[in-house]
Amino acid sequence: MSNDQLEGIFSEIESLFGAHQSLVRVVLSGRRRNMQTPHERIDMRPVLIKNSMQIQLTYSDGRAMTTKNYAPADTPLPSLLRAGYANILLEQTCGSVSVRITKKGEPLIHRTSEKKEQVLEHDRTKSRLLEPSDPFLIAVGISDKEGNLKPSKADKYRQVEEFLRLLTPALASAISAGHIPAPSQEKPLTIVDLGCGHAYLTFAAHQYLRGQGLPVSVIGIDVRTASRDRNNEIAKQLGISGSIEFRAEEIADTSLTKADVAIALHACDTATDDAIAWAINAGSGLALIAPCCHHDIQAQMNEIPEPWSMMTRNGIMKERLGDLLTDALRMQIMKLHGYRVEAIEFIGGEHTPRNLMIRAVKTGATADSAEQQRYEQMISLWKIKPALAALLSR
Ligand SMILES: C[S@@+](CC[C@H](N)C(=O)[O-])C[C@H]1O[C@@H](n2cnc3c(N)ncnc32)[C@H](O)[C@@H]1O
Repeated sequence: MSNDQLEGIFSEIESLFGAHQSLVRVVLSGRRRNMQTPHERIDMRPVLIKNSMQIQLTYSDGRAMTTKNYAPADTPLPSLLRAGYANILLEQTCGSVSVRITKKGEPLIHRTSEKKEQVLEHDRTKSRLLEPSDPFLIAVGISDKEGNLKPSKADKYRQVEEFLRLLTPALASAISAGHIPAPSQEKPLTIVDLGCGHAYLTFAAHQYLRGQGLPVSVIGIDVRTASRDRNNEIAKQLGISGSIEFRAEEIADTSLTKADVAIALHACDTATDDAIAWAINAGSGLALIAPCCHHDIQAQMNEIPEPWSMMTRNGIMKERLGDLLTDALRMQIMKLHGYRVEAIEFIGGEHTPRNLMIRAVKTGATADSAEQQRYEQMISLWKIKPALAALLSR
């Protein structure tokens, strides 16, 4: 009986699928009892390629995503429906059907009349570096179990993506200019994420760069042991523990001494200074640092040199000036240590007010003496000592 029921619903799904003009997507996921599915999850949707309708299949092997386009008649939907998936979702512009196949092999069917939009752009994935249904995004909690981006994590997702968008070309040019040795399987590129927290960026850098064919070895450092344990467990689940690891250490005291690339996304307050000091001491060829809150210099801005009180008499302006002073001094210190340094906006302010990134490449160029004087003048004018300078003079 349940076989007939199953065949009935499979035929219905096939015929709904045939109405491509109203098809939004089909998702197959989960595994029926005692059955092995070819992929963990498969997403199908119609796309327009050179004005002709195709069906795009995206599937994951639990670690990476693959995309294939089929002529509608060649789409292997009938065999995939019967391949052992426990959950089938078919969405159309006018409603959806979802089927859950129980342990006994019975289909539980749920229908809605919720309207959905059909999006036919085939290169939608190109404008995204990270597909929300990528298993690592589900594992770290950016996406839910169905592979949809969690609204509460949308800003973090954008931050991570934009960070990657800047990391990739910066890496390529640092490698081609010889500031970072060209990575090989024997000597992969080493990346450290300082103050990695839940490691959204750490995993993203690992997965994305590996997906681009770059051999990388990634380390995440965070003072919290709970973060280390959680992140190492996720790495294990994803089967990537051989090339990504997490340590619970203070940045300033980490046992790690070298990495080609140092990244830090919103390491709290002076943890950003610890991260920069670490990169300088380790001689990292590339450092991408997006600072977080800035309290160190603000707390030292007690004697305001005139005529600057005009800008500091309002708290919000004093705070912003303190932020700028902090980052400008950090950059100047890096410059004095042989880095070519720029400040860039890495993401729109609507996703985070902490949207400045310090991009630094170690060229080894000696800064001229005027740069040293400029730095000295600035700190003596404001009677401040940046945390970064204190760390480097230890
Ligand atoms: C605001 S969170 C950012 C986490 C992550 N980079 C992200 O963007 O999602 C800052 C992280 O820095 C870590 N942290 C702060 N000070 C640290 C230090 N001195 N050494 C290591 N980790 C530190 C915190 O435990 C926290 O996980």
